[in-house]
Amino acid sequence: MADLTGKVTLVTGAAGGIGGALVRRLRAQGARVAVSDRDVAGIEAEAHLPGDLRDPAFCDGLPGAVMTALGRIDIVINNAGVITRGPVTETSDDDWNLSLGVNVEAPFRICRAAIPLMAGAGGGAIVNIASCWGLRPGPNHAVYCMTKAALASLTQCMGMDHAHQGIRINAVCPNEVNTPMLRTGFARRGFDPDTAIADLNETVPIGRIAEPEDIADVALFLASDAARYVVGACIEVNGGKPVS
Ligand SMILES: NC(=O)c1ccc[n+]([C@@H]2O[C@H](COP(=O)([O-])OP(=O)(O)OC[C@H]3O[C@@H](n4cnc5c(N)ncnc54)[C@H](O)[C@@H]3O)[C@@H](O)[C@H]2O)c1
Repeated sequence: MADLTGKVTLVTGAAGGIGGALVRRLRAQGARVAVSDRDVAGIEAEAHLPGDLRDPAFCDGLPGAVMTALGRIDIVINNAGVITRGPVTETSDDDWNLSLGVNVEAPFRICRAAIPLMAGAGGGAIVNIASCWGLRPGPNHAVYCMTKAALASLTQCMGMDHAHQGIRINAVCPNEVNTPMLRTGFARRGFDPDTAIADLNETVPIGRIAEPEDIADVALFLASDAARYVVGACIEVNGGKPVS
């Protein structure tokens, strides 16, 4: 596994399913982790930076707050995300603003603020958690898919633009992952999450949907020197299941 000894890392969405796995795995590999989410109480980490990613000023200030708390910033993992269901005809203005705000504008603002700090220190790595559903259309989640496509494109463009500064920017694109995001979606629609996930497991060639650690390990690889020549990549992590 990647050696991340001493690497100061910001993880957004740290209280969520993939976020929790990221924080545990990063710290196990020696990273010093600053966690951000709306509520970060009870998360073991080196710095706690709670706040709402829909607040532009909070996002703009987050990389600087990591510097203040931990003295440097080597890695950023833009992991926080929200999912809204439905075709565009059922998408409210609130859903649109929430999805664009959390899934696109927040990573944009955080990257914009982090890149000069990393460049000034000789480099760094950014990993964005996008989705398979941003690489190809998925049914009944039009705005979610569009936001993840935007994040994937931003990743490819930023990867190209900032490689010369020693900053590698890549994305992980999962298919379904066993997290609160997926489970609460089933519950909201009246399905038992365990039964629904058992059914979903059958649809994946490798035999099961992803656990958060399956995604976190790929993000750690991309953040580490083992991925030193990987730039602007959007890595699908899907157990062999394409979007259909
Ligand atoms: N679970 C899946 O099937 C799946 C599949 C593909 C991609 N993803 C992506 O992986 C990432 C992590 O998702 P997850 O499944 O762990 O979801 P999750 O719901 O468990 O975690 C998401 C976290 O983001 C935080 N967050 C949301 N809005 C925020 C805001 N305004 N301010 C601060 N924090 C906020 C939430 O509080 C939560 O802790 C997301 O970007 C998601 O789109 C998930």
